[in-house]
Formats: sequence, C-alpha cells, structure tokens
Amino acid sequence: MKKIPVWFDCDTGVDDAIALILLSQLELFEVVGVSTVAGNVDLDKTTANTLRVLDLCHAPYPVFRGAAQPMMRSQISASYVHGADGLGGVMLPESDRKPESIPAWDALYQAAVKYAGELVLIAVGPMTNIGLTLTKYKDFPGLIKRIVIMGGAAVGGNVTPSAEFNILADPEAAAMLFDCGVQVEMCGLDMTMKAYLTREELDELGCLGSPQAAFARDCLQRALKFGESYQLPGVAFHDPAAVLYAADDTMFEAYPAWVRVETKGSSTYGKTVTDLYSDKKYEMREHLVVADIDRDAFKARLFELFARFK
Ligand code: RIB
Ligand code: CA
Repeated sequence: MKKIPVWFDCDTGVDDAIALILLSQLELFEVVGVSTVAGNVDLDKTTANTLRVLDLCHAPYPVFRGAAQPMMRSQISASYVHGADGLGGVMLPESDRKPESIPAWDALYQAAVKYAGELVLIAVGPMTNIGLTLTKYKDFPGLIKRIVIMGGAAVGGNVTPSAEFNILADPEAAAMLFDCGVQVEMCGLDMTMKAYLTREELDELGCLGSPQAAFARDCLQRALKFGESYQLPGVAFHDPAAVLYAADDTMFEAYPAWVRVETKGSSTYGKTVTDLYSDKKYEMREHLVVADIDRDAFKARLFELFARFK
C-alpha cells in the first residue's frame, strides 16, 4: 500500500509527544518532515523535546526549527500544563541529532512542491509556521492535499472562555489559514476534550510495560492533575486525537462549517467563530469541524498502537 506523505508541525509538549509516538507506529503515513514552533514552551525546548521523543520511538524524521515568536501578538505559553521543560518534568536523554539547517516554512514549502498535491499537513501547535509559509509562498495552499489541525472550538475555550490555546497563541496566523481558501479539518476542543483517559486508564497504558508507554503515563501526570483540578474526568489527548482522525476518521463525527478567527475582539480574541447552525445560509462553508469521537474506539486504537512497542 502506498504510504501517504505527512508533515507534522508541533510545539512539543506532552500531548504533542504522544502524537509523535503514535505517528511512528502508523504504517499508513510516511512522515517526511517535522517542524517545531514556540507554543507550550519556547522554541528551543519544543525543538529539543521533539528530537528527544523521536529518539524514544526510534523515528529519525528530519526536524526543522520554525518560529520563535507569534506573527504579531506577544508570546504566551502553556508551561502551567506541560511543565517548564514541556515534558511534564520527565527527563528523556538529550538527542545527539540536531535540527536541519533550513527553517520550517521553507522546508514545508519544498516538501509541498516535492509531493505535488499529495502532502497531508497535521498541525498541533500555534499556526505561526503555516502563517509564515502562506506569507512567503502564495501558491502553497494549492499544493496541499489536506490540512488537519488541533485547535479552536465551536463552543468555548481552554485559555479564555472564547479561545483555545493553539489559536490564541497566534490568532493572526490562524486567521490566515482559515481565510486562505483551503479546507481546514479542525480537531477542536469539542472533540478533543472527549478524547481523554482517566487516571486509571493512564496507569493501564503505563502497564503495557514499554519505555514509550511508561513515558506516556509519566509525562501526562502534571496535565492529569491540572485537569482533575478543574473537575475533568481525566487528561485530554488533544494532539493524538487529531493524528488518529487524520489516519482514520471513522471513529469521529465532522461537519461542514464556515469558520473564521476573531483577531480584533478583546474578550473574544482568538475565537474560532462557528456554530454549526447559523452558517448554513453562508456560501463559504469550506471547513470541517470535527465535533465528536467514539472514546472507546479511540482508547482501543491508542492502546493497540502503544502495544506495538516492546
Ligand atoms: O489546547 C490544546 C493544545 O494546546 C494542544 O496542542 C496542546 O499541546 C497545546 O499546544
Ligand atoms: Ca500541541
């Protein structure tokens, strides 16, 4: 079976790390590049974390450094969830590998040209690298087969009542993406908050016994405690859910929608504006909002992929 070329853009924090581990086990995909962006923690840490996690799952994908700052707004971080190091305080060995020499936006564009309409882009951090690629290469949108993101929400947020972290961290870049005319498959909080493991299930994952499973259990402990402090049932696997959606959408529900990003509001800054209802009269409903997940099927697939490690 011909593999699908995939580019993964991330701000490796703990759920990005799990997403990278899943990617390394998905035979459907050929990961042709990984780019890093400032987000959960700063760019040096997200890049070093990405290399460490790729070593952990024996996946020597080329890594390209991206943006150290958002395109316009001031930088925010999510270290309160991911820890100051970005991996929940779990120290993986420093990688011997280094990032490639060219920046993410040039490498991503070159890959899009090379794969001539077949490249699938999965972005699970702030959209800054995509915004910079769109700015520099006007023909980029026409070269991409699919754009799947973890970000946004039809209802609510997780940093403010209006905004989810990846969008709020760079609303101007996200707005460029949603405005560029290419369909965005938005794996937002509506779905990813349902893609959780309870404390007991996370322990069960760790008991699979491999170093990768133990790392997943351990690095997510801080995020689990943070979620429990908000009376959530467990820890949301935001980025892994987006990767599993990109690989197999049968355990998900997605709806065509008009989506735009608020960049002028004060209390609504960074909101992905959509409601899966009132936009039905709009002509432009080019995006997909992934709004639901079969959590049992998600958990089974997650465990199946982790069980491949010995
Ligand atoms: O809101 C969740 C998103 O923000 C995830 O991608 C997480 O890694 C953080 O980047
Ligand atoms: Ca992320």
